[in-house]
Amino acid sequence: MNLEGKVCLVTGGARGIGRAIVEAYAAAGARAVYAGDLAFDGFDEVERQYPAVKRIDLNVTNRESSEAAVSRIVTDEGGLDVLVNNAGITRDGLVQKMSDDDWDAVINVNLKGVFVMTRAVLPTMLDANAGVVISMSSVVGLDGNIGQSNYAATKGGVVSMTRTWAKEFARKGAQIRVNAIAPGFIRTPMTETVPQKVLDLMVSKTPLGRMGEAADIANAATFLASDAASFVTGQVLRVDGGLVF
Ligand SMILES: NC(=O)c1ccc[n+]([C@@H]2O[C@H](COP(=O)([O-])OP(=O)(O)OC[C@H]3O[C@@H](n4cnc5c(N)ncnc54)[C@H](O)[C@@H]3O)[C@@H](O)[C@H]2O)c1
Repeated sequence: MNLEGKVCLVTGGARGIGRAIVEAYAAAGARAVYAGDLAFDGFDEVERQYPAVKRIDLNVTNRESSEAAVSRIVTDEGGLDVLVNNAGITRDGLVQKMSDDDWDAVINVNLKGVFVMTRAVLPTMLDANAGVVISMSSVVGLDGNIGQSNYAATKGGVVSMTRTWAKEFARKGAQIRVNAIAPGFIRTPMTETVPQKVLDLMVSKTPLGRMGEAADIANAATFLASDAASFVTGQVLRVDGGLVF
């Protein structure tokens, strides 16, 4: 799959799934791939390996920070073709133990952050009459999961926004495609804190019999960003090994 000439921004791109997407986009020939994140521990080696990769400080919950980052990219590169809304957090707990802070933090990053970032890139994509927005949902947003009310609400919200934006952004013939990916359980720093017995249970419910790797999601994100997906919009692609839970 080919991303030659494309300028891409991946939020939460410094580690985990986001970092794998950054690497995959660079390997697919993208002209510039920006990893937007709060911190960049160990990211030097990615920049060394892929000259197209650049870091940019970005807090998706903050309008000024998001708009400043997008504006800098558009000024430096002359446009922005692909946004991946990947930044996400968890603050799990059963409803009766979930604090307002846990609720608000997850809503702010996973739901409002997707809105803030997409709103920031939209004028550039409308000017170009083209663009791709990919947002990270989750199987939890489709099926629910004990202890993840806040997270599930955001990931379901990502699906609703995706379907809305696929209609809204394509008005007047603009070729702006909007899709979501719903990963199953993927081996990243985020799932390092999930108890092993929960992960084992999920694997036992996964027909393909393993956890996913970040590269599994990056491959799907590369397809959706590429012209090979030029007639795909408003979709949620499950990448979960067939998980039913
Ligand atoms: N790992 C999984 O099993 C899994 C499953 C389904 C969906 N997802 C989703 O995939 C995405 C990536 O998950 P991951 O496992 O790689 O997580 P991760 O915790 O390893 O990485 C998330 C990245 O997002 C960044 N981030 C957090 N808040 C941010 C903010 N306000 N602004 C900018 N960056 C911010 C973090 O610094 C980090 O680099 C998330 O949206 C997550 O919900 C993950």
